Amino acid sequence: MKIAVYPGSFDPITNGHLDIINRAKEIFDKVIIAIAVNSSKKTLFTLEERKELIEKVISKRKELDGKVEVVIFRGLLTTFAKEIKATAIVRGIRAVTDFDYEYAIYQVNRELAPEVDTVFLLASREFSFISSTIIKEVARYGRVLKEYAPPEVNEALLKKFGHIQ
Ligand code: COA
Repeated sequence: MKIAVYPGSFDPITNGHLDIINRAKEIFDKVIIAIAVNSSKKTLFTLEERKELIEKVISKRKELDGKVEVVIFRGLLTTFAKEIKATAIVRGIRAVTDFDYEYAIYQVNRELAPEVDTVFLLASREFSFISSTIIKEVARYGRVLKEYAPPEVNEALLKKFGHIQ
């Protein structure tokens, strides 16, 4: 069974992330969405909220059923990947601006665990400019962009910013 880990902050999950997850699940038998505990990044949603939100989004999408799981991990990604017997790390690249950062992480991870390779998927064109920061910024002012994030996420964002109950 080929297991891949898809790490990130997911604060919150966007349609861009879902695009990558949907495509990764065609390549691997199982995709583990791994929410990283990153103390240097101030997040809007707590770890548990992010996990619950992703689980809600997954449960509403039959095509992901049984193929995708969500976990929270602490520490090094490569250590976690080996623990869950993942043979690959999946990362999405949206534009050339993502490349330098991803290449640096790739080199570090490769050094730490040569047996865990990284598979880069290029974001589909319609999602290549989405980021969690952008959707949070718009929601802060009471608006959501339907194509950017799943409805469950848009609702959670509007609630978080007090625009709906
Ligand atoms: N579609 C839409 N948005 C995407 C995207 C895609 N396909 N791919 C990335 N993004 C966005 C995210 O929304 C996020 O946006 P934001 O900055 O506005 O929140 C941004 O790109 C980058 O976030 P993310 O992919 O979550 O990466 P990160 O930099 O927060 O975390 C980890 C990267 C978790 C993989 C890395 O920190 C890690 O491995 N940590 C564990 C510790 C470790 O092992 N360190 C050694 C390696 S350095």
